[in-house]
Amino acid sequence: MDTFNNDVIVKEIKGRLSIINLIESYTSVKKSGRGFVGLCPFHDDKNPSMHVDEEKGLFHCFSCGAGGDIFGFYMRYNNLSFPEALTELANKANVEISKTPVKPKDNSSVGLLYKLNKAALTFYQKTLALKEKGKAAREYLKNRNMSQELIDEFSLGYAPSEWDALAKFLAKNNIPLNLAERVGLVVKRKQGGSYYDRFRDRIIFPIKDLEGKVIGFGGRVIKEEEQPKYMNSPESPVYSKRRSFYGVDKSRDFIRREGRAVLVEGYTDFLALYTSGIKNVVATLGTSLTHDHGVILRRYTENVVVLFDSDESGIKASLRSLDVLLEEGLMPRVVPLPEGEDPDSFIKEHGVEKFSELIEHSESWIDFFIDRTLNRYRGGSLTMNQLVKEVSALLIKVESPVERSLNIKKASEKLGIRENEILSYVKHGTGRGKYGGSKTASYSSHEKLLLTVLLKFPTLSSVISDKNWQEFIENQEIKSILEEIVSGGVHDVSNLLVHFNNQTEQDLISEFLLSSDGITDIDTAANMLESCVRKLKAAKLDGRLKALRLEIDRTVKDKDQIAEKRLLKEYSDLRKQK
Ligand code: GTP
Ligand code: MN
Repeated sequence: MDTFNNDVIVKEIKGRLSIINLIESYTSVKKSGRGFVGLCPFHDDKNPSMHVDEEKGLFHCFSCGAGGDIFGFYMRYNNLSFPEALTELANKANVEISKTPVKPKDNSSVGLLYKLNKAALTFYQKTLALKEKGKAAREYLKNRNMSQELIDEFSLGYAPSEWDALAKFLAKNNIPLNLAERVGLVVKRKQGGSYYDRFRDRIIFPIKDLEGKVIGFGGRVIKEEEQPKYMNSPESPVYSKRRSFYGVDKSRDFIRREGRAVLVEGYTDFLALYTSGIKNVVATLGTSLTHDHGVILRRYTENVVVLFDSDESGIKASLRSLDVLLEEGLMPRVVPLPEGEDPDSFIKEHGVEKFSELIEHSESWIDFFIDRTLNRYRGGSLTMNQLVKEVSALLIKVESPVERSLNIKKASEKLGIRENEILSYVKHGTGRGKYGGSKTASYSSHEKLLLTVLLKFPTLSSVISDKNWQEFIENQEIKSILEEIVSGGVHDVSNLLVHFNNQTEQDLISEFLLSSDGITDIDTAANMLESCVRKLKAAKLDGRLKALRLEIDRTVKDKDQIAEKRLLKEYSDLRKQK
């Protein structure tokens, strides 16, 4: 991507759009002191903890730590990549970017693909409404308790039982069929090169992105004997099933509001819950839950209730999803359904109240995991040692230290072994959860001050540039931000955020930028930097000395005199430096 061009466009957009106006369209904000405060949409905020600084063009939540500029807000809220957010905000700001190479290569045709999907959907919707042609499909939906209201809200449709009804419709509307082939709506015949429809005689469930744009389709047979039961759009430039949830465009606000998402396996389970008033629901699309899914969910809530079929493959899928969810910093619970039921059939049979009870009585992930794995232990297919290892592999991924230790306690009680034994696995385990690693990685107050000062006065980066600063900065995010500043690429800090795709870095930058108001004088700032460098170097030295003392103790214990001598020399050299 062309960074220079981006910088220019980003600046232009920021000049034209007000961050307050944008944020106000998502959450209410009030004037407070110099800036604005409002309820943070990125966590379940009870008191307004999100601050917005119009002048700096930044927002920051002092409760959950989310922060960034207008692009950061828009990307996070709408779950978009930077190029996507750039395109949309440029649109809002009336900034022309088509001449610049910032969009994906074939963006113009990507735009066409959305339009094409939309046109196809209209065709499917109309067909469902047709008196004769749509009759069987309407009856099928009625039998499945899908009301006209639901059909409208989710734009359900019907693909007629003909080989090329859609192909003909598209051709008549001058839509090139090779485009339709790219999104998998039609398939090219091996002989003759003509096209036939992929979806025939099926209920159509459009899959939409967060903006409500149609990215793909699912089709279900209405005659049970037909195979396969479901057909889904293939991957395409606009559709990636590992990143998409069904219905999330409708449900995300409910998820945010409830502070919890209910995760189900398919279209009909989603719709059954939604229509029963349980609207904080998401469904994967015929794939198991991916890490991308986890990352997306975490933007809305940390709490996920997994509600899969109760058959063996459903249980396997639930166990796998725990792994992904924990790794992405989420707090999963599981609802075990009675044998042979899925959410849709359960509601139909027992009613929504019983179903809500089930959700309220969901099991914690550790209970679910241990109970299911204990079966394997009792069946003899797993030793206790393996079982403890498997549980520990999950415990390692738990982000919150409090949760982790609570769950370790619970695991030890359930398994009848001492906490210490589990702890030893958890401690020695590798691969801490992604968030366990980076999000909680703390920075020292001097690291913070150093970066804060440099964000305010980037020209002072010469103060640290010749001081081997990389050696005494421990926090990886702060290090990468400093690298960007010191390398001289940053003249205008307000554009710095654009250089980071990573939310952790955006959070840090906006937080530090907003707390840099007290630093006004460049000479004082330079002194502060010098003092930070001294303190950080000393801290680094102290850390090394402490580690050396431990190593020396060990050599003494092991009576390893050669090593002891070498380490003592190193120790005294370092002392002198200090
Ligand atoms: P109903 O039978 O309509 O209630 O659907 P269900 O959700 O109970 O079906 P099931 O649990 O079998 O499938 C869950 C999800 O897996 C569906 O929403 C589809 O996305 C996917 N799926 C199921 N069967 C097939 C299939 O035969 N082919 C493909 N590609 N996907 C399927
Ligand atoms: Mn079902």
